[in-house]
Amino acid sequence: MAESGKKQKKEGGFTGQIGFVMAAAGSAVGVGNLWRFPYLAAKDGGGLFIVIYLVLALTFGFTLLTSDIAIGRRTQMSSVHAYGKMSPRWKFLGILTFIVPVLIMTYYAVIGGWITRYFVVYLTGEGKAAAADSYFTDFITNPGQSAAYAALFMLVTAVIVYNGVEKGIEKCSTVLMPVLLIMVIAIAIFALTLKNTDAEGVTRTGLQGLAVYLTPDLEGLTLSRFMQILLDAMSQIFFSLSVSMGIMITYGSYIGKDVDLNASVHQIEIIDALVALLAGTMIIPSIYAFEGIEGMKAGPSLMFVSLPKVFASMPGIGGVVGGLFFLMAGFAALTSCVSVLETVAANCMEILHTGRRSTTLVLTAVYTAASVIIALGYSLFYVEVPLPNGSIGQILDIMDYISNSFLMPFISFLSAILIGWVIGPDWIVEEMEYGGRRFGLKGLFRFMIRYIVPVIMLILFLQSMGILG
Ligand code: PHE
Repeated sequence: MAESGKKQKKEGGFTGQIGFVMAAAGSAVGVGNLWRFPYLAAKDGGGLFIVIYLVLALTFGFTLLTSDIAIGRRTQMSSVHAYGKMSPRWKFLGILTFIVPVLIMTYYAVIGGWITRYFVVYLTGEGKAAAADSYFTDFITNPGQSAAYAALFMLVTAVIVYNGVEKGIEKCSTVLMPVLLIMVIAIAIFALTLKNTDAEGVTRTGLQGLAVYLTPDLEGLTLSRFMQILLDAMSQIFFSLSVSMGIMITYGSYIGKDVDLNASVHQIEIIDALVALLAGTMIIPSIYAFEGIEGMKAGPSLMFVSLPKVFASMPGIGGVVGGLFFLMAGFAALTSCVSVLETVAANCMEILHTGRRSTTLVLTAVYTAASVIIALGYSLFYVEVPLPNGSIGQILDIMDYISNSFLMPFISFLSAILIGWVIGPDWIVEEMEYGGRRFGLKGLFRFMIRYIVPVIMLILFLQSMGILG
């Protein structure tokens, strides 16, 4: 049984480097790039945040992504068994890592459902209605609608995973990712051509907005504010690259030994950073032109409240641009959601020695129910729970907090200790150099994984626990 399960997986791996890179980039590019990155850039000093982010991506992001992918390919297993194989005493870390996608899966389809709803609104020509202040709140507090859209998104995700790595995940990513890239570039260029004169007669352009986005804002910069920006950028990086949650381990376990891991890591990073930068180029200039600097302070409500207003103010074509935007966001969310469900499924298949189809069917039932419950967390199951970082959360925020703020830095910390000090960085380096490949950044990798990652992850962890102010 175990043997046939394993064999099935190997046969169903990615066809090659392109398939793998598209699927992994599909996981990485998600609502984090489209919504969270622009909102953090607007909040954290524009160009300053961007520079810090890029530097961290090339050091931290690179180290964590390399580790995950190499662990997956070397062990050919998903997180639970992969860590057990690296060191039997560290199997607990595999289990801890497995918990992250198990939790994220409960709410990711809910956010996917919100995006789908907005797409449908623009598709049916009701985009203007979405610009009303209370539209988003009215929608998420409507039990029937929000649950139905969450379940719908969940089912589409399940169909892709049910069809397997090659025929489901790789196929959908290699189609959707290039389309997504073209759409972000097109909307970003369009945003730069915008020009608007407000009621007071002030004219603002998209290009001025671009300058606001890219210029580092160093005014009133203190050490503590700099540290805050650093931590924001750090947590954004590992959320955005889908590292430390077993996803890249699972995807890494599906690649053959002929794939160049060094090149793959760089390609995934470039696509992820590019989409984040372009998302900022499309969102910040649009908001700036129509709502000015003030509009950019919207924070989390940026995507579902501010943007629909901008689309509504665009003369004539706002509905079309809005529809395209939410279609693209839907693609981004779908390929990410697929990677989460696949990771949960892959671990279950390895632990329970079950087949893909039966596993997917059971998980679909479980997670459709979970998604509905989380969606109802804004109506029937509404709660207000204070979180250790000082914010107040509903069920979705609690799941997000446990997985992203609490577990992920903790896992990265432990994983860096395991690789850097217990089994040694060469365990990863050997995999990167397999078949005579050159791992040019191995010095950087060794240094980062042993000294820098553990310290910074510990700080991030303590901060999210509310222990460090
Ligand atoms: N990387 C995705 C993004 O940037 C988020 C994500 C998190 C995807 C967890 C899968 C799992 O939006």
